[in-house]
Amino acid sequence: METQQYDFGMVGLGVMGRNFLLNVADSGFSVIGLDKDDSKATALEKEGNENVKGATEPEEFVKALKTPRKIMMLVPAGPIVDSVIEELLPLLDDGDVLIDGGNSHFTDTNRRMEELQGKSINYLGIGVSGGEEGARHGPSLMPGGSKEAYETVRPIFEAAAAKVNGEPCVTYLGTTSAGNFVKMVHNGIEYGLMQLIAEVYDMMKRGMDLPNEEIHRAFTEWNDGELQSFLVEITADIFKEPDTKVGKGFLVDSILDKAKQKGTGKWTSQVAMDLGIPIPVIDAAVTSRYLSALKDERKQAAEILVHENSKLKEDKKLLKGELKNALYFATIITYAQGMALLKESSTEFDYGLNLADVAKIWRGGCIIRAKLLEDIMASYHHQPDLMNLMLDDHLAKILLQLHLDAIEIAKLGFEQGVPMPALNAALSYFDAYRSGRLPSNLTQAQRDYFGAHTYERIDEPGTFHTEWNKS
Ligand code: 6PG
Repeated sequence: METQQYDFGMVGLGVMGRNFLLNVADSGFSVIGLDKDDSKATALEKEGNENVKGATEPEEFVKALKTPRKIMMLVPAGPIVDSVIEELLPLLDDGDVLIDGGNSHFTDTNRRMEELQGKSINYLGIGVSGGEEGARHGPSLMPGGSKEAYETVRPIFEAAAAKVNGEPCVTYLGTTSAGNFVKMVHNGIEYGLMQLIAEVYDMMKRGMDLPNEEIHRAFTEWNDGELQSFLVEITADIFKEPDTKVGKGFLVDSILDKAKQKGTGKWTSQVAMDLGIPIPVIDAAVTSRYLSALKDERKQAAEILVHENSKLKEDKKLLKGELKNALYFATIITYAQGMALLKESSTEFDYGLNLADVAKIWRGGCIIRAKLLEDIMASYHHQPDLMNLMLDDHLAKILLQLHLDAIEIAKLGFEQGVPMPALNAALSYFDAYRSGRLPSNLTQAQRDYFGAHTYERIDEPGTFHTEWNKS
């Protein structure tokens, strides 16, 4: 049996695990992958170079790794991670490093980290973004856990990560579950941006009656400017994909309008609620996926709650400029909400996050990579304690310039019956955030009226209660 010759091991040779392992091998490391499915282990060896080995038995796999071992798991989040740990644990030695690269819930990572600490195993939670292509040719990697443990795997991850201007899209982010938390918020932002793009598409298709060719052209053009991003780029591609199954038309029109989800967007909203941080664009995106699932109800409602289509009065050419500006406006706000959540999580969970670093490693490899992240990185670089990106001078100026166009599109959405919940949420968040005074004085009065919950006054410290309607 071969002993201790591989630098890095991977448990789970599905699409992500296999591709990431081949990427690590291409970066000059010897690697071994473990999967109970023999065909996957064989396929890995076939695809890889002479430094790539496949294994089906945990003993063989663990013995073949150089110590301290560096083992990454890319298996579905949840109980499977626990069972992999349970199986490997008796085979590991003190000081070995075990890495979870899946979309695990951050509280699971905290629990596993604590359990393994007692057993002298170093556990890291590393967010991996970029899908199949990213895993193979350079993902964005978001590591969290013990800094010393990360140092032992740093050369491997830096070599495998995407590069922007020669700099790897990976850096140590923070303690405990920081990596999984940052990846979760990345996905929340991903949900928000995808929903905004879908709303803009809906407006172009249903509201403006534009053909797919023109929608393709619009996204292609936008991807050349400030909206340049992975999601806008792939959206442009989608609108030129033919439907080869039926031999005519475009594939996008044949896809059922029910959006699925694996849960990371929902987790982002849930945690934000728990921490008391408003992220309404992301919430709207999560809710929109649930609404999309109600296909039968929606079809029924379309017959009953008929929308009287008003004729579009606006010039379609001008509207495209407004749409682009509305999308950019809401895109900035989506990042602002995600970053605000990260800021609070860092305080609450003691992660020690550096938001400039987060923006930096999101610039390449991941699903939400975008030109805008250069501005966001610069902004946190100059003001590490910035409360909200909307308060950055440069971004504030841009938001104010785009704001009226965003309103025009939102109005048009209501007129045309095109739902734009994420855009509307962005606009309302913007207005609420810049309101020095909100109507919450009335809410407080009502709470005190019916429940003696007390209120504070603007002119005097302390808490007050009134016997309402008694005088
Ligand atoms: C990534 C993605 C990925 C995510 C999918 C699907 O960064 O590569 O975020 O991790 O799992 O995008 O997510 P949903 O199924 O929830 O849409």
